[in-house]
Amino acid sequence: MKRGTMEHISVKNICKKYGEGESAVKALDDVSLDIAKGEICVILGPSGSGKSTLLNMVGGLDRVDSGTITVDGLEITSLGRKQLTDYRREKLGMVFQAYNLIPELNVIENVRVVKDIAKDPLDETELLQVLGLERHMTHFPSELSGGQQQRCSIARALVKNPALLLCDELTGALDSASTRDVLRVLQAINERYHTTLVMITHDERIAGMADRLVRIKDGRVVENTSKERLKAEDLVI
Ligand SMILES: Nc1ncnc2c1ncn2[C@@H]1O[C@H](COP(=O)(O)OP(=O)(O)OP(=O)(O)O)[C@@H](O)[C@H]1O
Ligand SMILES: [Mg+2]
Repeated sequence: MKRGTMEHISVKNICKKYGEGESAVKALDDVSLDIAKGEICVILGPSGSGKSTLLNMVGGLDRVDSGTITVDGLEITSLGRKQLTDYRREKLGMVFQAYNLIPELNVIENVRVVKDIAKDPLDETELLQVLGLERHMTHFPSELSGGQQQRCSIARALVKNPALLLCDELTGALDSASTRDVLRVLQAINERYHTTLVMITHDERIAGMADRLVRIKDGRVVENTSKERLKAEDLVI
């Protein structure tokens, strides 16, 4: 399938407000956005602009006040709890700003809990090797650096080989070399499996690898550009 020939995610006019009255915050204010199957979409924007809120909505973790989100033809904004859980389990990998690892499980066990419920998983050992965690497979999250925890959470999101991978500040805790490695892995997964990638970042340099660049400010999309992607190895990071 050619990149960009099929719509994967369609966000239409979504609004989300937190709080009431004077202290209310419009986290998303009439956001619309289409992302094609297999596209790499990078979302940039200042702190507090609504990036995580948008990602959480697409990930079915929070409810919109109004508007619709359709993924693979499924309108997720009208689904019940059980159907939303199925959607997340079957279609979605998510890497959060906080790593969400299970503290009682070691690295490889953290990845296996996701692998065990997946239909067509990848090999967890190979994935951890590619992510540079081969020597940490039996370590617990508390024994890992921030960057290593982040790579473990990336392995966890990727092991089920999801159609859609949502990443929030993926490389925030990584040094330049690890950032390049992680971006290379994501690009390879994208090319091999046609995984749609949506990545939030503060790092303008990462925007180079995007097919689509979206800028958010004060809960609104202020830029939505379709462009030629650069190879991860050619980014100056
Ligand atoms: N659960 C919540 N309750 C109340 N306000 C919230 C909640 N989640 C987000 N907000 C507010 O909504 C706005 C958008 O937050 P969001 O987390 O989406 O920003 P962000 O762009 O991801 O920022 P950062 O780059 O710092 O992670 C902020 O003003 C934030 O304070
Ligand atoms: Mg955020």
